[in-house]
Amino acid sequence: MIVGIPKEIKNNESRVGMTPAGVFELVKNNHTVYVQSGAGEGSGFFDEDYQQVGATILETIQEVYAISEMIVKVKEPISAEYPLVKKGQIVFTYFHFASSEALTRAMMDSGATCIAYETVEDEDGTLPLLTPMSEVAGRMAIQQGAKYLEKPKKGRGVLLGGVPGVAPGKVLVLGAGTVGIQAAKMAAGLGAHVTILDVNMKRLRYVNDVMPSHVVTEFSNEFNIRKHIKTHDLIIGGVLIKGAKAPKLISKEMLDDMRPGTVIVDVAVDQGGCIETTKPTTHEDPTYIINDVVHYCVANMPGAVPYTSTVALTNVTLPYVLKLANMGWRSACNLDKSLSKGLNIVEGEIVYKEIIEAFNLEPVLV
Ligand SMILES: NC(=O)c1ccc[n+]([C@@H]2O[C@H](COP(=O)([O-])OP(=O)(O)OC[C@H]3O[C@@H](n4cnc5c(N)ncnc54)[C@H](O)[C@@H]3O)[C@@H](O)[C@H]2O)c1
Repeated sequence: MIVGIPKEIKNNESRVGMTPAGVFELVKNNHTVYVQSGAGEGSGFFDEDYQQVGATILETIQEVYAISEMIVKVKEPISAEYPLVKKGQIVFTYFHFASSEALTRAMMDSGATCIAYETVEDEDGTLPLLTPMSEVAGRMAIQQGAKYLEKPKKGRGVLLGGVPGVAPGKVLVLGAGTVGIQAAKMAAGLGAHVTILDVNMKRLRYVNDVMPSHVVTEFSNEFNIRKHIKTHDLIIGGVLIKGAKAPKLISKEMLDDMRPGTVIVDVAVDQGGCIETTKPTTHEDPTYIINDVVHYCVANMPGAVPYTSTVALTNVTLPYVLKLANMGWRSACNLDKSLSKGLNIVEGEIVYKEIIEAFNLEPVLV
């Protein structure tokens, strides 16, 4: 198969759809790979790195789309890319169709087959191509939180690990899912005292089993949240109710109970946030202050660490890319039920129930 890796042109996106390691595997499997010049630079991979493993570099994005049978990228195509996607092409990337009718209509019109990373789903309901980004964001939440706890950043002036003779900082983690566990692990590693809350007892039992004793689990309810926000320095929002807006666990009025300089990192901002005062921010201007509480609510946290994010993402996408290239999308999806859940548009027809419902489209049988 001819596989194309275009440069991401969405604002502030430095990740790339495939690393040289991925190209190496494709070439080893007798596929031809075209990479747009400079596509990997933002993530620290240069044209020579791709050439060395057998890719051909093309200057323009138009050339990459025109020659490729499958496009592998990171973000959904933006309007400048719509006319480049062609009939019969496979596009494998994050799409989030339900949030854009324009994108949905453009991909239907193109006649392409669109396989969305975010809906590839394992048998146990987990989303293997979203997990690595939650892992990145969870770990990063503590790094950012620690930074904004510093006085010049308007925080309480607390060092999370403390020092001999001074108690460590206290971190409250809301949600013991992928984000929450990674955040708790990083905070514990720094020596902070960690309290982690969830409504799922299985998750709490797991955390209790695997974490050190300075990570304490408690059931998530309003009483416990009200109690802990008074004494914790850093609060991480990592709750998710699948397919729904995040529940608001901390109201505006509850900020009055927090000490000045408390820091909130609401990772769940992309689902509306679990704090009433959350509003999305960017890496250029990541924080704002309400009632002396610092809010960090960047909606694409992994974008700040493109090297790690690219490698983490392509580690999990590559096995699917190889299946698609080796067998074609029909056989690959017939054999791999997880991958088949990623099929959102097949040769221009929407096949994903939630998108059909979102835009009142006619259902199609495939
Ligand atoms: N901002 C970013 O850059 C970024 C990056 C990655 C993920 N995210 C977001 O982070 C959020 C968490 O993702 P995840 O992968 O950890 O999800 P997950 O499904 O692994 O974990 C969510 C956890 O929240 C728990 N939960 C639900 N209701 C709760 C409540 N009332 N109190 C406490 N816990 C509750 C669930 O039981 C679950 O354990 C999602 O909204 C995700 O989209 C944001």
